[in-house]
Amino acid sequence: MTWKPDEIRRLFPAFVNGGAGVYLDNAATTQVPDCVLDAVGGFERGGRANIRRGLYPLSLQATEAFEEARAAVGRYLGAADPREIVFTSGATAAINLVAHAFGDTLGPGDEVAISEAEHHSNIVPWQMLRERRGVGLKILPVDARGRPDPDRLEAAITARCRLIAVTHCSNVTGAVTDVAPIAARARQVGALLLLDGAQMAAHGPLDAAALGADFYVISGHKMFGPTGVGALWAGRDILQRMPPFLGGGEMIRAVTFEHTDYAPPPQRFEAGTPPVAQAIGLGAAATWLMDQDWDAAGRHEARLTRGLLEGVRDLEDARVIGPLENENRIGVVSIAVDGVHSHDICHILGERGIAVRGGHHCAQPLMERLGLEATTRASLALYTTDSETAAFLDALGDAIRILR
Ligand code: ALA
Repeated sequence: MTWKPDEIRRLFPAFVNGGAGVYLDNAATTQVPDCVLDAVGGFERGGRANIRRGLYPLSLQATEAFEEARAAVGRYLGAADPREIVFTSGATAAINLVAHAFGDTLGPGDEVAISEAEHHSNIVPWQMLRERRGVGLKILPVDARGRPDPDRLEAAITARCRLIAVTHCSNVTGAVTDVAPIAARARQVGALLLLDGAQMAAHGPLDAAALGADFYVISGHKMFGPTGVGALWAGRDILQRMPPFLGGGEMIRAVTFEHTDYAPPPQRFEAGTPPVAQAIGLGAAATWLMDQDWDAAGRHEARLTRGLLEGVRDLEDARVIGPLENENRIGVVSIAVDGVHSHDICHILGERGIAVRGGHHCAQPLMERLGLEATTRASLALYTTDSETAAFLDALGDAIRILR
């Protein structure tokens, strides 16, 4: 089937009303389809009640809707059981949850390994763990194109390693990590593997367990869902073994002043009233994503990405940072222009109604490793059109001519 992005765009009010213009900042946040807005609005307008607390019908229905959303997210991530999904406020919160609940069981002599390709959200929580618990932090280098280097696993992932936390796909380069050798190394040394799926999750359903992951984290707003919600997937046995991170209501079985018995997961990790409307919206996004023809959408994105890679090659002084080949990557294309700052480019593009991100993309160590301060990043989604990428290349060429 041929993918028809214009038909998809009709489902997104941001495009129907024209407000989003040429929108190529999907790695920062995606737009939201009507079905997600309807799910959120339906709850807020006529279904709003706190969950798990009330015995009246509205509360019971809200609880059911929340648990259905959990099941939908579970299906999207290949979970064997909906109880493997913990709702969080986003991927950052999910990583922090693991850094505390699992990380605080570690101590001096243990190590956590991350890669040079990580977003700050998958660096800083581990540095904080190092400070809190004296856990060693090892860094897996990337190759020249910014992908975690499978040839350098042994030095970074030692017998002391207890957890490897790496991105499934870079928000700077679009490179998809070669997970299999990392997962094999994790098994060899007895470490768990956390994959940061914030970027990957907008590009089709996943099977986190089949990838070899023990933890998988996602952000709702980067996969056509609401802001303020995300999820952690982990196997039941791992969640059962982990102590809670945040304490409060709903994560308990019984409380006395002397002692608290914790609820089983996932409730153990969902203290307080969760983001109910947002979780319901995320469930709707996951269901909508499950219904898409990913073969056709993937071919469409790959074709547009190829066009961007070739188009940038034809621009004087511009170069793509990240994989030049169109394999094992998503449509996140970072561009450096010699002698020109990305913020100046983004400003000119913004004036022409083209939304892209410039800067270090919350991945300063990767930028430093690549010898750059900043890039201009165009990031695609399943609704991106040929005319959007063409407008971007045109405007980029003009901006370079103006700024050089
Ligand atoms: N992490 C988001 C990005 O890459 C905000 O733009």
